[in-house]
Amino acid sequence: MARIGKNIDLAKSFLEKGMLVGIPTETVYGLAGNALDSESVALIFETKNRPGFDPLILHTSSLERVGDFVRTFPEKLKMLAETFWPGPLTLLLPRKPVVPDLVTSGLDRVAVRVPKHPLTLALLEELSFPLAAPSANPFGYISPTRPSHVEDQLGRKIPYILDGGPCTVGLESTIVGLEGEEVVIYRLGGLEISEIEKLVGPVKIKDHSSSNPAAPGQLDSHYAPRKPFVLGDLHQLIEERKAEGVDFAVLSFSESFPALKTEKQIALSPDRNLHEAAKNLFAAMRTLDESSAAVILAELMPETGLGKAINDRLRRAAVK
Ligand code: TXA
Ligand code: MG
Repeated sequence: MARIGKNIDLAKSFLEKGMLVGIPTETVYGLAGNALDSESVALIFETKNRPGFDPLILHTSSLERVGDFVRTFPEKLKMLAETFWPGPLTLLLPRKPVVPDLVTSGLDRVAVRVPKHPLTLALLEELSFPLAAPSANPFGYISPTRPSHVEDQLGRKIPYILDGGPCTVGLESTIVGLEGEEVVIYRLGGLEISEIEKLVGPVKIKDHSSSNPAAPGQLDSHYAPRKPFVLGDLHQLIEERKAEGVDFAVLSFSESFPALKTEKQIALSPDRNLHEAAKNLFAAMRTLDESSAAVILAELMPETGLGKAINDRLRRAAVK
């Protein structure tokens, strides 16, 4: 199994040897390898069982270092970077040839972000190369927000997990790029759209999926528990399953159900706080997926602020 600890030098030495390390970020844990070394990048795809057409995000420690990997940095995107980095924002920028094809799946743009976590920032400062890091989960499964999540699923395949505690945001970064002069959101995430719009004006939201290879990544079925995951009105879903005699677990925004066992229900935020709900979402989905229930019943959040990104994850989890 992987060792889990806070030893940056050890993490660095594994990465320098071409091995992979689990790293904490504010959004989710990453499965990191040397982004400039094709063999390390290939190992990431293999370890995650990830299809090669789904490109990776390059993580670096500062805005200044991004110039090493991109040809241009359009003003609007630079404004976003200056305001929100380190933070849950990923920018698509024209790549320099130093970035391996495997990182971008051959696309002209490379995804870059500066994550906001003291351990990982310190590690990136120490390294002479950036880190390619997808979420540290097997492809298609729920993203990890605790070191134990990484250990449970990838612990046998990697030597080390850098322990940065639970992720504070809990949703993957928001992915942003430019099309002409228009700012486009390619993945809803931990940075709210309203925050972006305050700086650059109205943005366009582009949902990408496997049926749209020009903008790969967001496959329809994703973030998915193994158990059937059903979205709807919880009271109605509960009555139906009770009538059918099906053993179920419940994931609600804020509500508790006194008639149900406590271990078969999780309220993401009793105070109806969307930041708290986002932070708890993936851990809650995992806990219920590991319960003895046959099916998970869940409800959508209000479609405001982070609710949009949470609902995107819930809908994808419900796709069969
Ligand atoms: O918060 C995050 O972004 C986390 C942490 C670890 O940083 N990383 C993450 O990586 O969520 P991953 O690989 O699970 O998701 C990255 C997404 C994919 O959907 C991928 O298609 C998209 O970013 N992406 C990466 N490079 C791209 C590119 N050049 N063009 C379009 N989409 C890209
Ligand atoms: Mg992922």
